Amino acid sequence: MIGRNPEAQTLAAMIAARTDRREAMLGLAAVMAGSAAGVATLATAGAAESLGFAELTKGYDETHHVADGYGAQVLLRWGDPVAAGAPAFDPAIVSPEAQEAQFGFNCDFIAFLPLPAGSTASDRGRLVVNHEYSDPVRMFPGVNPENIGASLTRDHVGVELAAVGLSVAEIRRDGAAWSVVADSTYNRRVSLRSTVVAVAGPAKGHARMRTIADASGERVIGTLSNCGGGVTPWGTILSAEENFHQYLSGDPAGTLEAVNYDCVGIKGEPDYPWWALHEARFDLSVEPNEPNRFGWVVEIDPYDPAAQPVKRTALGRFKHEAATTVVNGDGRVVVYSGDDERFEYLYKFVTAGVFAPGDRAANADLLDDGTLFVARLAEDGSVAWLPLVYGEGPLTQASGFSGQADVVIEARRAADLLGATPMDRPEDVETNPVTGKVYVILTNNTKRKADQVDAANPRAENTFGHILELTPPDGDHAAAAATWDIFLLAGDPAAVTHGAKYGPGVTADGWIAAPDNCAFDNTGRLWIATDGAPKSAGHADGVFACAVAGAGRALTRRFFSAPRGAEVCGPCFTPDGTTLFLAVQHPGEEDGSTFATPSTRWPDFADGTPPRPAVVAIVKAGGGLIGT
Ligand code: FEO
Ligand code: CA
Ligand code: CA
Ligand code: CA
Repeated sequence: MIGRNPEAQTLAAMIAARTDRREAMLGLAAVMAGSAAGVATLATAGAAESLGFAELTKGYDETHHVADGYGAQVLLRWGDPVAAGAPAFDPAIVSPEAQEAQFGFNCDFIAFLPLPAGSTASDRGRLVVNHEYSDPVRMFPGVNPENIGASLTRDHVGVELAAVGLSVAEIRRDGAAWSVVADSTYNRRVSLRSTVVAVAGPAKGHARMRTIADASGERVIGTLSNCGGGVTPWGTILSAEENFHQYLSGDPAGTLEAVNYDCVGIKGEPDYPWWALHEARFDLSVEPNEPNRFGWVVEIDPYDPAAQPVKRTALGRFKHEAATTVVNGDGRVVVYSGDDERFEYLYKFVTAGVFAPGDRAANADLLDDGTLFVARLAEDGSVAWLPLVYGEGPLTQASGFSGQADVVIEARRAADLLGATPMDRPEDVETNPVTGKVYVILTNNTKRKADQVDAANPRAENTFGHILELTPPDGDHAAAAATWDIFLLAGDPAAVTHGAKYGPGVTADGWIAAPDNCAFDNTGRLWIATDGAPKSAGHADGVFACAVAGAGRALTRRFFSAPRGAEVCGPCFTPDGTTLFLAVQHPGEEDGSTFATPSTRWPDFADGTPPRPAVVAIVKAGGGLIGT
């Protein structure tokens, strides 16, 4: 799936064209001449920028750090009790049943839903957290990193299945301190091990969704690879199933889905031996259709602990990262989602119906009917949103599609046929609550070659990633068109070969690499979490903030640093902006780091206790808005 439409232009010319256009729009001075590598720096230094914290110095060590004047409290760690009856964490006990009531592993997306429902309360709410993947080398004693499969028992794998999915926990703030409400009846886990998830939308019950275990094609055990996500206007969570391909064994070429499985990277060489030890359904020779039941956006209602999660197939099947909603001016709901793989695409879904404020029942199935679009980003700064609709354009029987179910199951192949623009790994997408512009994070793509660069993905061997800024016409997110600009090109601004582009004044501590998740605060400033800092050069991944307008536009500044081996995920503010929740994912995930000899024992630093992925809650000393 590489380089469908490479455009043979020079990098410098393309960046200049795009940057000139934005400068003209903003009425700013012309850009300074780009270097041979295409570096373009805005000539607008001088005015004060809006961030009110002193930048954190970069570093790389065993613990986390936050800017002066802020406190970071570890709120929920892997293994902490969540659901009723959960035992306390004991790393020596391998119990799938215990894990299924405890906080899962490798936390990613975070949502805070105020209590009471519909309020903007910022001292009590439900915290919903995705758990993306498990890591047996650091979860369990005695696992040989060179031969994981031979080290694991069925119970180990049972813990892994229970440790992915989601956690829902009621939390409260008392003064500066947050805590989990241990006896809340709303606390629950959703896992891959036992949670029954319904299927809705065009693929519900389709033959390609049916298995021996589920002849209905409407009922999947669990959700998997829950990475980014979003919150709907009616207070449910959308959880994005991302890298589901790495669990499937067997010969994909021997199934009727060979083309489909090739398109999503299923090679029959799983990274996880679950198929042999626990989940025979992940063996294609047993259940050839099981992979079609993952790669969806899953909706979960955290206000109803008995609610069954639902896979919303109208939003398409790919390696979803993020599912960010916005209510359009006409009341329809738009969900933006990236497909996080090199040369994959940016999508949006537009509901057919309109959001009914205050009527949860009326919104319950809104995501089952609407139109899925994929983006083509042209050199002139225009975006065309191309509809993935059965019977339109090439999406017909002649191309192997027999209905909308086929289109959503094979969304990538449908998007190929429409001529979508292959991107540099789309991760999070967020809309700015102040301006309505849409920010698309492209984390990196080291495989893009010089003859594959295009205006929206302007660097070959894009090690550091970039961020695009989309402007819907007249604020209409449902429109078939938009415009795009480059917001920033990540990398070290002092290294000409990086071709980085920020607002002027980014420091040696504040430049970013591999942006992944992001969030806006109430004033419209962007907070960026990274996953791929140059650790060997002493940069931990972290959280960086910047303005999106004025002199501080795209001037990133370091606010938080993760412990070694970790990325930071899920930035999430309380409605009042006084608490920032972050997920510290995979602390200690480094070569040679194991359960017995981890490179950090964050956050407990207790002998015998491995590193524990955890959510931290950041508040300002004495109270106040984060970032002021
Ligand atoms: Fe799970 Fe795209 O990060
Ligand atoms: Ca991510
Ligand atoms: Ca986000
Ligand atoms: Ca990541």
